[in-house]
Amino acid sequence: MLSREEALALLYRYLKDEKMIKHCIAVEAIMCSLAKRLGENEVIWSLTGLLHDIDYDYVERDMAKHGLEALNILSSSGLPREALEAIAGHNEHNGFRVIDERALKILHGLRASDHVSGLIIATALVMPNKKLSEVKPATLLRKFKSKDFARGVDRERIKEVELLNVDLEEFLPLSLEALQRIADELGL
Ligand SMILES: [Fe+2]
Repeated sequence: MLSREEALALLYRYLKDEKMIKHCIAVEAIMCSLAKRLGENEVIWSLTGLLHDIDYDYVERDMAKHGLEALNILSSSGLPREALEAIAGHNEHNGFRVIDERALKILHGLRASDHVSGLIIATALVMPNKKLSEVKPATLLRKFKSKDFARGVDRERIKEVELLNVDLEEFLPLSLEALQRIADELGL
């Protein structure tokens, strides 16, 4: 399996937008914390988070292809099949269906992490100093419930974490802490 350094180098080869790279690093951090909480493989979950949007620029943001091209890019990466399936299936507009139970677990974690990272970053950006350290778990829960806030964040996707028997009251702070730990790297 590829190392974190190799994964990051691959990501930089395919993604040109620094904002997208940071998004991937944020999802990686949340996936790592979630895997730890669930007793799942932290290395595999982290790499899945880091690489999940690798084909985003390559497919020119075509949602019918996004996720599918990643399968080709990552075919020789050594990432296990269930991780590849989760990456292909995290975008529900490409026709890829995930059936394997282990892949489904990663998939739900990935979708929840993907969208909660957006919610947390949007919340940080409306804080007085635009810092992750200013965000409190209660604020995050309020922003989650406020439908007019960060409308691009799909609350239903975040709720997929409940399929892993983790409730939102636990997942939101867990995700917030994961991003606060890498705040410098995210520049927030
Ligand atoms: Fe993403």
